[in-house]
Amino acid sequence: MDADPQGSVGLSLTRQSRVLPGFYDLMADPVYPIDRLIVPTRLETLSLVAAGQTSDYELGGGEMGVTLHRVREFLRSVEGKGYEVCIVDTAAGLFGATADVLSASSAVIIPQQAEPLGIRSVPKLMSVLARMRVVNPELSVLGLLLTMMQPGLAESREAAQSLKDILPSELLFQTMIPRDDLFIRASARGLPVGAMENGAGAMAVFDRVRMEVEAKLTAMAQRK
Ligand SMILES: Nc1ncnc2c1ncn2[C@@H]1O[C@H](COP(=O)(O)OP(=O)(O)OP(=O)(O)O)[C@@H](O)[C@H]1O
Ligand SMILES: [Mg+2]
Repeated sequence: MDADPQGSVGLSLTRQSRVLPGFYDLMADPVYPIDRLIVPTRLETLSLVAAGQTSDYELGGGEMGVTLHRVREFLRSVEGKGYEVCIVDTAAGLFGATADVLSASSAVIIPQQAEPLGIRSVPKLMSVLARMRVVNPELSVLGLLLTMMQPGLAESREAAQSLKDILPSELLFQTMIPRDDLFIRASARGLPVGAMENGAGAMAVFDRVRMEVEAKLTAMAQRK
């Protein structure tokens, strides 16, 4: 589900996503039929909910607490429909719809570019997330996932190293997403990287991320 008003998840999976109803339509209208929001993709096991029409939502945000309630209701109903996992892509930041999605979620993954400026804000981000557990004690931080990694660039390697120094090892994904021009070519064609003719390598990286996520979710379930 795309909860980023810029709606880029949808764009990379289906070209019609700009006109599809989605997350923000549901936030504006709680009785919006959910079945009309869930669209199939070329992957049988993956369905998509686009961002939809944000109208004035992104400007002022929803009424306090209303979004949170509607996100929770939505997650409950897709679970009832048999979906195992609902991955919600949010805009950066910890306010507005992003905060509401976090308050309704059981786990969060933090993608972080491997560059020094971004890394410096990580401790602050972690402490805000910890405070968010006051509102949502269910929320586990699955970990921080380094992206745009360039092993040939000293700054990129240093960023990765300083994250290792400040984060407990279980909070850092072992897999790192390398910077790869294939992403740019894939997004130009409106395809997921894995669907590109030479996408097997990128696909393998995300498959390792998937395995790490599954292991973390299993461990999380066992702790409960
Ligand atoms: N590993 C990568 N290698 C090269 N380019 C990448 C990689 N990951 C993403 N990109 C490119 O960078 C751009 C932004 O990526 P993406 O949308 O994933 O970032 P984002 O952090 O979600 O941005 P936003 O905050 O706008 O949602 C895209 O155009 C994408 O093609
Ligand atoms: Mg994004």
